[in-house]
Amino acid sequence: MNYQKICQETIGIAKKAGNFIKTERKKITASDIETKDKNDFVTYVDKTAERLIVDKLKDLLPESGFIAEENSETYRGKKYNWIIDPLDGTTNFIHGLYPHAVSIALQEDNQTVVGVVYEIGFDECFYAWKNGGAYLNGEAIHVSSKQKLSNSLIATGFPYKDFGKLAAFMQSMSYFMQHSHGLRRLGSAATDLAYVACGRFEAFYEYNLSPWDVAAGAFIVEEAGGLNCDFSGGNDYLFGKEIISSNAGIFNEFSKAVIQLMR
Ligand code: 2AM
Ligand code: CA
Repeated sequence: MNYQKICQETIGIAKKAGNFIKTERKKITASDIETKDKNDFVTYVDKTAERLIVDKLKDLLPESGFIAEENSETYRGKKYNWIIDPLDGTTNFIHGLYPHAVSIALQEDNQTVVGVVYEIGFDECFYAWKNGGAYLNGEAIHVSSKQKLSNSLIATGFPYKDFGKLAAFMQSMSYFMQHSHGLRRLGSAATDLAYVACGRFEAFYEYNLSPWDVAAGAFIVEEAGGLNCDFSGGNDYLFGKEIISSNAGIFNEFSKAVIQLMR
């Protein structure tokens, strides 16, 4: 498979969905917002964007399957599967805030080979293909070269549903406020990871995430020279609901701190 070619096609599809989302933003009313679960919102925009993406990806790779947030398509492919969040940052979207992003990853034999995160507000497309490096709007990107947590800007996401680890999480925020340049909470995990990949953030951690929130972004981080792990230091960060991601320079120091604080 020509990963670069598939990546270019996927960028076109992500941007089409992104433009649809941007246009619809102005039309959303309170009655369009459905509540899937406590604090978990969805609109016809998420669902229609996902349908658009799934239909186009099916044409691109007919034998592929899908793991998609709004469940438009549940067929699982033997070799190829797309992991899709049509709109990452729905809460931002419905409040008229950026960032929010389209996130699409392709897996071959359960390994990610293409990742695209299209952040709609700043019209920034982050992407990578296997062994091809990572890019932002056509320019190669790399994780930052900072070597110390004390010089680093850290991103996270607040718990919104599972408050079981809230005490540990508050402790971790207290620690990072005192031992880094600062903490940011943007509201789109896919964008947070893309920003680690291009060096705006040194690191990101969050729990209770789904594979579609992180699959594309975590892969772009890797292709940009960064590292990912779960809250035990293992590799189960896509389906395990917990991710630690950072540049190479602070990965040991940062991951050790998160693992210890979130225990
Ligand atoms: P989503 O907008 O696609 O749901 C932010 O903390 C991250 O968590 C986002 O990637 C967001 O993805 C995800 N998330 C899932 N449910 C959420 C919720 N109810 N509130 C905030 N973020 C949520
Ligand atoms: Ca979503």
